[in-house]
Amino acid sequence: MNMYCRTTADAESSLWWQRAVIYENHLPSFRDGNGDGIGDLVGLTMSLDYLSDALGVDAVWVGPFYRSPLLDQGYDISDHCDVEPVFGTMADFDRLIVEAHLRSIRVIVDFVPNHTSDQHPWFVESRSSRSNAHRDWYVWRDPAVGGGPPNNWTSEAGGSVWELDDLTGQYYLHSHLIEQPDLNWRNAEVRGAMLDVLRFWLDRGADGVRIDVAHMLMKDPEFRDNPVREIPEVNEYDLQHADFATQHHINDRGHRDVFDVLREIRRVVDCYPDRICIGEIEGMPWADWAKYFGEQLDVLHMPFAFRLIETPWQAGALADEVDAMLDAAPADAWAVLALGNHDRPRLASRLGQAQARVAAIMLLTLPGTPTLLYGDELGLEDQPVPAERQRDRFARMVGGVSRDPTRTPMPWTSGRNGGFSEADERLLWLPISKRLTEVAVSTQIEDDSSSLALYRRVLALRRRSPALTSGAYRRLVPVTPNEDVWVYERGVGEERKVVALNFGQRWQRTEVITGGEVVVSTVLGREGRAVAERLELAPNEAVIVNTGAAHHRTESK
Ligand code: NOJ
Ligand code: CA
Repeated sequence: MNMYCRTTADAESSLWWQRAVIYENHLPSFRDGNGDGIGDLVGLTMSLDYLSDALGVDAVWVGPFYRSPLLDQGYDISDHCDVEPVFGTMADFDRLIVEAHLRSIRVIVDFVPNHTSDQHPWFVESRSSRSNAHRDWYVWRDPAVGGGPPNNWTSEAGGSVWELDDLTGQYYLHSHLIEQPDLNWRNAEVRGAMLDVLRFWLDRGADGVRIDVAHMLMKDPEFRDNPVREIPEVNEYDLQHADFATQHHINDRGHRDVFDVLREIRRVVDCYPDRICIGEIEGMPWADWAKYFGEQLDVLHMPFAFRLIETPWQAGALADEVDAMLDAAPADAWAVLALGNHDRPRLASRLGQAQARVAAIMLLTLPGTPTLLYGDELGLEDQPVPAERQRDRFARMVGGVSRDPTRTPMPWTSGRNGGFSEADERLLWLPISKRLTEVAVSTQIEDDSSSLALYRRVLALRRRSPALTSGAYRRLVPVTPNEDVWVYERGVGEERKVVALNFGQRWQRTEVITGGEVVVSTVLGREGRAVAERLELAPNEAVIVNTGAAHHRTESK
């Protein structure tokens, strides 16, 4: 029996999370329940029917709603065990859990262990004197010999990770904003306090946690410099500050001791039946990613496979990455997949509307648990946010990049404020999409050709298809390699589904020897057609075909 458990973990865990589709709600931008212009827990609860019935997802990842100065959208926490009044009350959270569970929706909350807000009482204490009992709860270092920061580490938000605190003459570490000091996970009291935070939310009914920057909890204990990159490596699909790209981040994160603390977290989660921990870990080589499961599958239930977000949108490149991911994963490991999130450019802006539909089919049919960012089901695009309306403090750093364009409000209707809020437009958390009529849920739900209709069809199919949720994955190698087409099969028992994705602008012919029927297509009017031998793929078309065992050949017309 696990020494951390107060209850016995359920050995017959249902593995619900392997069949689930997770929806990333971004709380301040999802739905405003009290008319102040900011999304909240009541608004999310009001939207559960949309998630369960209209869309058909299985879990919602809420986003941080804890007490916070909101400089980093709530990832700067000043009290882990209370609700930020802007987002509601503890009773609102409890009601969310009850209402979600009534609809068979699981609720995943953020667990933000790497840092707190500088307003957190622990940090207020810690910075008050070198001898304070909380001093070692954060990472304090003397200036380098000759002055200046203790080492060269750069922050994701820009600049050095070190901030000099004049009161005590030492620097503290902040891997993100200056106002987000890093906790010292090598301190046993910190670990104990944070594990209590975890228990607090699991006791209140959370079905799992998404661990923020899980790979960052442990740093090099000697605080050695990161090697400098001769050529900065900027990933166009990430929105980090350019300073971050100037070095190899090998000492400020991912120290091998991180697996021990993640295992401690996992042991707490495992004391609660059917709860999960998902880890946000940055894109990294697959062999490193695989370590986050643990050889005994005792670290994270599911680490995010962020390399897929960062891979160029090309059929062959993505197919190769998926092969490499599956090869690296330990036996019985299960990935959590995403093609976008609240830190990245919107899928429809990055790929274009037509390819965003191809991405929908891909994400919902690959082996793993898909995570959708709110609004991606509508093809919501990035929208520039005027400087005076920006919320993301990362953007205020010199050279900083704003993630606000990704985070604009969910457009529910084509009416006032997109049905997001009753407040005056100037009070809205962020401005509403300029393409409101096209993107609104109310418009798209009536339109079979819409992005929302496509998501609904695929999600409905997934629900009744064991092959698509848990079937084995097999890449079908074209006889004539074609860089625009990726075809794979998911199969279990007698059920076979072939997924064919056309990344290009030309018609393609794909030979599917045993035939079948197109059950979903990104192109209206092409569903239901029989596939005898040749499947014709229109430009930007992706299809799911019901078929027997298959292999295929692809050629350009
Ligand atoms: C990752 C979160 O996704 C991001 O939004 C946040 O700014 C950082 N972690 C810091 O918590
Ligand atoms: Ca509100």
